[in-house]
Amino acid sequence: MAKEDRIAFITGANKGIGLETARGLGRMGIAVLIGSRDEANGRAAADRLRGEGIVGVESIRFDVTRPDDHHAVARYLEDRHGRLDILVNNAGVALDEADFGDPRGANTVSTVTPEVLRATFETNVFGVVALTQALLPLIRKSPAGRIVNLSSILGSLSLHSDPSSPIYNMKAFAYDASKTALNAFTVHLAHDLRGTSIKVNSAHPGWVKTDMGGKAAPMELSEGGKTSVQLATLPEGGPTGGFFHLGESLPW
Ligand SMILES: NC(=O)c1ccc[n+]([C@@H]2O[C@H](COP(=O)([O-])OP(=O)(O)OC[C@H]3O[C@@H](n4cnc5c(N)ncnc54)[C@H](OP(=O)(O)O)[C@@H]3O)[C@@H](O)[C@H]2O)c1
Repeated sequence: MAKEDRIAFITGANKGIGLETARGLGRMGIAVLIGSRDEANGRAAADRLRGEGIVGVESIRFDVTRPDDHHAVARYLEDRHGRLDILVNNAGVALDEADFGDPRGANTVSTVTPEVLRATFETNVFGVVALTQALLPLIRKSPAGRIVNLSSILGSLSLHSDPSSPIYNMKAFAYDASKTALNAFTVHLAHDLRGTSIKVNSAHPGWVKTDMGGKAAPMELSEGGKTSVQLATLPEGGPTGGFFHLGESLPW
């Protein structure tokens, strides 16, 4: 299938890694639907990409925590495109208020509030599962469906348990646990979809300079969409049910 014929939906694509992913896929000639909680921000992001010469960009107001929005985007895609080729579950929050590098941060596992835990899981896990379920019938209509779940190296239990790992002391519980749960979703969904042409993978984009990643992050935003774009455009023989950063496998 030619890239020009594909349609991708990216959640939280009005800024940061999501917008960068939209830019990367758009430059490849893939039509992109930008999901944005704020309608005007989504329109502005789409205009920006069009201004860069990227065609086939659309935007839709979309909040991953709202079931009505899941059904609205499914209807939109059904009506305009008849299917979905690429779903990038990019929208995410880090509400822990913890400095990821400071184990004494406000919301360690012994201090995190149930509200922060619930709100984090609502966006980073429950919303992602429900949205994916709502869109699966459309993804099944694609000859080569791709689902990318924006996880984080901070979701890796193996690395969190290893005192020599660089993330050993970065323990913001709500965020980390939500990404671990998202990784479980990747593994279970890939198993569910075995025997189909659909591939599901978790992405660690790197520690990227965004509103979430902060200014101290070593990776420039222009690099931040690369892992998502790679996994969204995997060839037929590519992996499924994996966890990757720039083509390298990460431990669960
Ligand atoms: N930056 C990093 O170093 C890093 C590292 C590992 C993983 N990640 C993951 O990469 C993804 C993108 O992060 P980022 O760094 O680009 O963060 P960001 O700049 O804060 O952008 C997050 C995006 O998610 C959207 N969003 C938040 N809650 C939403 C909701 N309920 N419904 C729909 N959209 C929602 C935001 O919308 P608004 O503009 O309306 O707030 C924004 O568009 C996240 O899943 C994050 O966990 C990032």
